[in-house]
This record gives sequence, C-alpha cells and structure tokens, in this order.
Amino acid sequence: MRIPYDVRADIPLTKEVAYFDNAATCLTPVPVVEALTDYYLGYRGNVHRGVHTLSQRASAAYDAAREKVAAFINASPEEVVFVKNTTEALNYVASGLHLKKGDTVVTTELEHHSNFLPFVRLTNQGVTCEVIEATNTGLREEQFTKIEGAQLVTCSYISNALGIVLPVQKLGQRAHETGALFCVDAAQAAGHMEIDVKELDCDFLCFSGHKGCMGPTGIGVLYIKKERVEKVQPVFLGGGMIKNVSLSGYELADPPERFEAGTPHIAGAVGLAAAVSYVENVGLSAIQDHEQELAHYTMDELSEIDQITWYGPYTPHAGVISFNVEGLHCHDVASILDTHKIMARSGHHCALPIMNRLGLQGTVRVSYHCYNTQEEVEHMIAVLKEMKSLI
Ligand code: ALA
Repeated sequence: MRIPYDVRADIPLTKEVAYFDNAATCLTPVPVVEALTDYYLGYRGNVHRGVHTLSQRASAAYDAAREKVAAFINASPEEVVFVKNTTEALNYVASGLHLKKGDTVVTTELEHHSNFLPFVRLTNQGVTCEVIEATNTGLREEQFTKIEGAQLVTCSYISNALGIVLPVQKLGQRAHETGALFCVDAAQAAGHMEIDVKELDCDFLCFSGHKGCMGPTGIGVLYIKKERVEKVQPVFLGGGMIKNVSLSGYELADPPERFEAGTPHIAGAVGLAAAVSYVENVGLSAIQDHEQELAHYTMDELSEIDQITWYGPYTPHAGVISFNVEGLHCHDVASILDTHKIMARSGHHCALPIMNRLGLQGTVRVSYHCYNTQEEVEHMIAVLKEMKSLI
C-alpha cells in the first residue's frame, strides 16, 4: 500500500534534512500546528471549570479529542487518560496498582528504561521483578514460564533500540491465563501501525503523542481497561478529579477524570487529536508498509557493507534499524551523518539492559516514518560507504 499523497508538503523540515530520528520524536505536520494555534488564539480557556463561552468551547474540544484518541485505539473515551508521555503512563501503572510485598512483575530485557526502572524500584518494597532475557533477535520464549504467579506483565510492542517486534499477543495470552494483568508500551507502535486494544486484550496501553502520531510533545495516553479501573489508585490528587470533598475525605470522580488531577495539557490533547486524524488520513497500513519497505531496503544495503553490523531479525522488523560501523564510535558515525544533513540517533537509546546483553556500548539508529523516502536512505548508504576511508 502506498502513501496516498505528498505528506512532505505538509512537513516543512523534510525539505531541509533527512530526518531519521522518528523513534525519538517525529516531525510535525502543518494541520497539527494549526490546531494548537486555533486553541491558543481562538478559544483558550480551562476545561470543565467554568460556564463562560471559552471554557465551554475548550471543554468541548478537549472531550472531542478524547473521543478521537479513544476511537484510534478502539477504546471507550472513559478508558483514555491524558498524561505527559509514555514514561508517565508506565510510572502511573507501576505506582497506581499498589503492588505489595510478595507480588511479582515481569518485564523484558528489550525494554526502554521507562518500562524497566519504575518496576525495578518496586523491589525496594518487596515486589519481585522478573526479566525475560533477550538475544539479538528477540525474547527467549522458553523464559515465559517466569510469568506463572505474576500480578503484572509489561512489555513493549516494538523495541525502541533494535526495532524488534515483540510477541505481544503471546505474552498477553500467557499473562491472562495465569491471572496477571497485561500492560503494553506502545511508544514505538502508535502512529506506525493499527492498534486495537481489544485485539491485544491488554489491561493497560501507553503511548506518547509526539512520536509516531506526529503530535505535540508533553501529551500522551494511558489506556486503562474499564474492568480494571478499580485496581488503579489515582497517583496525583487535586482539582478536577473528585465528586465531593469533606474535611475528612473525598469521593473520586468517575474515570477518566479521577486520573487527571489539575489543569490538563488542553492544547496538547487538541493537537494530538489533529495528529491522529492526520495519520489516519495517510492510512496506518500504508505507513506500516512504507516503513517496512524502507527498513528492508536499509538492511539489504547495510548487509552489502563489510564494516557494518546491524541488529535484530530481518523479519519481522519495524522501521527502526540499529547498526555499528567497525572501527568508528556510534557518536562519530552520527556526527558524520549530521554533516550530510542526515539526522540519526546514537548511543544506548535508554535501553541499557539489551545493550549490556549484546555487549554493545551503543549503536547508530535510524527510524522511519511516512515522509521518509528511498532516495534519503540511498544518500545515507552512499555516505556510509564513504566512511570506509576513515577506518
Ligand atoms: N525513547 C526515545 C528514543 O528511543 C527518546 O529515542
């Protein structure tokens, strides 16, 4: 399936650089910026706190944004909590579930630190954190037995460091068979492919607005399945999240408001809704196919260069490719690419567990979206071939 129209025309920065750092954050299309400007200049007001016109308009836009984002992942609006980003959502799961001494959480060695550290910290209060180990090509599935007896299994959909697609369906099924809750870190999946929380049968799903969805920074989503709401305690208390307050207590508002204390990122939510509409118009299947093609083309070309090693399986492999050039530090490779206006990330990608497992200090990482082209990848390959002379 092809990208249906010239998305590059909507994204001015594509004319200046080859932007291959989409796993860190994506470029912004004009309609998203327009949605933010409309709010700030046209109807700025706080939400659900006033009867005046601007507050009413802002509230309606905020509620509509929640409906839009809920439909995007096949959830109900009351299951969508707006948070800052994936990190905040995952911390919310770790803290809100009030896991106790003797409980077990299972995570994996392919996780970003944000799906690892909040759960490792729980060990201070007597929770056991089991880790399913990984290899260069994926999880060691024989270690799924670690799930037996756990209260929570949490894993990413796509590894941000190596582009590995994790067997989320299998992990979710295993988690539920043994009575554990299942949480998916969809930071590298949302906006790059269709996501359906019912199909995934997850209890929690977390993603950021600024990555694949091409939305603003500072807004993200925590999906909490309706049936699991009572298992999660609000982590923050304050305005906008109660039904009633007395001098000795309070009654929580219904979800999702009970999980959103304080003034939310209203512009962010409105911008995210515009971004979600944008990627839906481009088409999630078209985006996924396009990124797959670029990924396979990249891996094929990198395989032709003796001094380069790339990581992960050939397939399935998301549009995130990590590699190293023998004899050159990954930061030097990324700096040279930068002089050719190619934006790639280098380092450990906040994924030290898998870097340590593979004995790597870091990698160069390129990550794609719908506005990247084969010509841009060809240009990078040509630059990498010339690097041979530096070794
Ligand atoms: N998590 C982001 C990345 O992988 C920042 O680059």
